[in-house]
Amino acid sequence: MAGAKGVALVATVLYSVLVTCGFAAGAWLPAKATWYGAPNGAGPDDNGGACGFKNTNQNPFNSMTSCGNEPLSFLDGAGCGACYQIRCVNNPACSGQTKTVMITDMNYYPVARYHFDLSGTAFGSMAKPGLNDQLRHAGIIDIQFQRVPCYHRGLYINFHVEAGSNPVYFAVLVEYVNKNGTVVQMDLMESRPSGKPTRVWTPMRRSWGSIWRLDSNHVLQAPFSLRMRSESGQEVISHQVIPANWRPDTNYRSVVQFR
Ligand SMILES: *[C@@H]1O[C@H](CO)[C@@H](O)[C@H](O)[C@H]1NC(C)=O
Repeated sequence: MAGAKGVALVATVLYSVLVTCGFAAGAWLPAKATWYGAPNGAGPDDNGGACGFKNTNQNPFNSMTSCGNEPLSFLDGAGCGACYQIRCVNNPACSGQTKTVMITDMNYYPVARYHFDLSGTAFGSMAKPGLNDQLRHAGIIDIQFQRVPCYHRGLYINFHVEAGSNPVYFAVLVEYVNKNGTVVQMDLMESRPSGKPTRVWTPMRRSWGSIWRLDSNHVLQAPFSLRMRSESGQEVISHQVIPANWRPDTNYRSVVQFR
């Protein structure tokens, strides 16, 4: 019995480490920070990254973005959209003030167990007033971080139907997710031609980053409802958010949000 309990405990701990990332609120952990892209930029040149988010120089990202290595972003992008507080402590240019960044990209060559490869803007934001460039000049610094809920004030969850989607292949980017910030499962419900849902949820799978896809063996009947589950198990449904006349490479704003 004790053995079985031990196995169950190990399994539970492993589950929480693998699935929820295991970062308890209020516990600062040490990490290394570097930066990439333009000194006052949002990271990659196209402002996107391995999560699929675009326009990360604009609201709600505002260039406060970071690549996370595996424990932060997770292997396949499941950590995309997660929010972290960061602060630096031991560089003379550091303000020590807490800043919040979102994981929008992945980092495959970590220099430490936890490595934030920040946008130039996010890295510089940890400096005392006027010392942003001096801090960036350090290149690599020690920071502390903690996972925090995301609040994208005034924003509902946005769906961007990806280019290349068609009646048997539907790929959608999910963004502006509050609270956990991440989505661990997404499902799609088709409609009958009358517009009445059939009440059957079809699981989608993560394509890459924050993009979910459904490869169908039949022509998908829009409008579609989309259901998202967060790390905490909370579910949010956006009813018939994708209209009958949906088009690829188009945004569909929902009126739902995690609360
Ligand atoms: C996810 O959200 C729930 C409820 O909002 C919270 O209790 C939990 O700590 C969050 N998990 C992470 C890893 O942030």
